[in-house]
This record gives sequence, C-alpha cells and structure tokens, in this order.
Amino acid sequence: MQGQEQQRILQTLKQGLETQTSADAGEMLQVPMDGYTDPAQLALEQAVFFKQTPLMLGLSSDLPGINTYVATNETGVPILMTRDASGCFRAFLNVCRHRGMQVVATGRGEGRQFSCPFHAWTYQNTGDLIAVTHEDKFGSLDHRDFGLTELPSAEISGTLWVQSSVGEPLDPSGLLGPLADEFLHWGLAQHPFRETQVIEADINWKLAIDTFGENYHFNVLHRTSLATDIIGNLQTHDIFDRHYRMVFAGKAGFEQVLAAAMPIENWPYRQLTLNIYFLFPNVIFVVDPAGIDVLRMYPADNAPGRSRTHHSYYPHPDLADTITESRFPGFNKVIVDEDYWAATRIQRNAEASVQPYGLFGRNEPALHHYHRVHGDALGLPALTVLPPN
Ligand code: FES
Ligand SMILES: [Fe+2]
Repeated sequence: MQGQEQQRILQTLKQGLETQTSADAGEMLQVPMDGYTDPAQLALEQAVFFKQTPLMLGLSSDLPGINTYVATNETGVPILMTRDASGCFRAFLNVCRHRGMQVVATGRGEGRQFSCPFHAWTYQNTGDLIAVTHEDKFGSLDHRDFGLTELPSAEISGTLWVQSSVGEPLDPSGLLGPLADEFLHWGLAQHPFRETQVIEADINWKLAIDTFGENYHFNVLHRTSLATDIIGNLQTHDIFDRHYRMVFAGKAGFEQVLAAAMPIENWPYRQLTLNIYFLFPNVIFVVDPAGIDVLRMYPADNAPGRSRTHHSYYPHPDLADTITESRFPGFNKVIVDEDYWAATRIQRNAEASVQPYGLFGRNEPALHHYHRVHGDALGLPALTVLPPN
C-alpha cells in the first residue's frame, strides 16, 4: 500500500478513535438465513464460484523457485500448479491422460518432471507428455495431444490465480483489479511460505468468511483474546470492485504514537494496523506486523453446513528467521475456539429454520459488500434494506 493511502487510513482510524465513530454503511440489511443452508444455492455457488471463477490459490512464494510445484484438491478439482525452468507459472488438471490417476501427490515440492504412480507416464512441468511406458506395446501416440490439461491461470502482484475449469486465458488485470498496485507494494513474493493448515468446520463457507467481516464482536466474543490487541468497533471501509479492504487499529501501537504525539507521517503503518481484504469470491487475506495470512474458504462434502478453510501463513520477511514457532495454535485459539465456535451455533440455528433473517448493521459494511457481490454473481434477488424507523 502506498504512503499516501497509508496516511489517509491512519488519519481515518485516529479520527474514529477520537470521535468514537467507525465506518458506516448508512443502512441495515436483512440476510436470509437459508443462504447458509439451501442445497440449491450451494449447487449454484459450486458451479459459479468454484468452477467458473478464477480463484486466488496462493502467493508467488508458494512456488519459490524454478521447478517448484503445489498440488491441491481444495477447489474440488485436482490442480497442479508449477513454475517451470524459465520461471513461468502454469496450472493443470492433476489428472493423468492415460486412465485418470492423480499424477502428483497433494503437497508441495520441487520437480521438473512428474511420473504417474499407476503406469509411469511422465510429464514435464510445462504439461508436456514426455514418456509413455512401453509405448511400443501400449500403442503409438502423438505426445502433443496428451499433455496435462492446462487450466486458465495467471500470476499478478505476487498472487497466483487459477480457474478450476478449462476455458479462455485469464486477463491478469481483471483479477486483483484496482488492488494490483497495492498488492505489489506489500512485497508478497518476499514473504516466504511457512506453514499451512486446513480447518474443517460445521459451518457454511460464507459463515467462515463472515466471521472476518466486522470487529463489532471483538469486545464481546474476543474480550479476553483479540480485543486485548485490536481496538473493537473501529474500521475503515474501501470497496475495490468486487474486492474489499478494511483496516483495524492495534491497541498498544496507537496508544504509543498518540502518547508520544508523533506526527502521523512518522507512524509505522505496518506495525499499527491489521489489514483485512476480501478477495472475491472466497479469500480472506490478512496483513499484520507478523506477516500475511491467506484463508481460502470452500464448501465441503456437498453439504451447505460443512466447510474447509485452507489457511497458509507467510511471515514478514524481516521476521522470517526469528519466528520459529507455529502461528496456528494462537490463531486457532481465536478463530476456531471463538469465531467458528459461534458460527457453528449460528449454522445450527439456521438449519432449524426458526428465524428467516439475520441483520447486518450499519457498522458491518464489509458484510453488506460480500453478500451483495455474492448475490449479484449468482443472480439472487437483491438483499432487503431494513427501513429506518
Ligand atoms: S493412469 Fe497414469 S500412467 Fe496409467
Ligand atoms: Fe472474530
């Protein structure tokens, strides 16, 4: 994020703190609870979001050098992402052209060639089929016709995008859209990949996203955890087409700079803020002083009430050597034990069909945005604005 924008955000947070105000959506919205439970809506979401929409599957540092790869089935389709010997990023269906076996085991590593574990057909990391075992006995093939099936993919500003279905090449400028420059300034490629976890939860995948969508709940649900570090009921609000950004203020840091009467131009932006992005349709992207967390939410088990959150952590480049402990126990104490704990109870009540609507308040503008862009993309009726009384 560029300096001028940082100044504007810090100023907004400072003012909000002084006046006890926060971003205001100007209206309240009704959210139909069956959006979290309806199998027909889930089927539509799976088709539109998880098959036909480019998804951010990682950062450039997930493929840190030439001839590296990541194999993942998280979208519901087996995907192999590679960086070839020239540094070029590509994505393929991780499916052997012989009998359909998964070629590369799920995980990450280095490899210029991949040999299928069933009959050892071998592919280059460019997707080219380079060897058919006993081809003289199998039958002669034109290898050019039997490479791994390439998926639309693109790398932009340190992020990796893949569409899970075959289609037209992606236009990289349409992926991060107006956030492309800002992401470049975060220096994502310099944040090394550290660790990854999958959180399985009995909640709809959108409830997993919702939990990151406001800090109205910090002083209640997180009063003994996150609220000791982050100021509740205070956020910025910026829309970037279908994406979104909100910034929270760190408690200790803000107290220090304010007590020192430090001019705002000298405030250390990264040290003072928690930056939360929603990247359409399913990513929560968090930048804080310790690094970057990428959380990719997916429906699971074809059940509206089940989801998987794929979480990867990339430490700040200056801290990569000093941070040695896993980030996940501390993170999960808040996100799993508190946020997803609450979301599980919301899901259970939604499934009981006892209350048709929830509400998004004026002070929860990110939730207005996510649910509107999701609904628009699916062709759902517009959410109802609650008339002011
Ligand atoms: S299925 Fe891959 S080599 Fe036979
Ligand atoms: Fe929370």
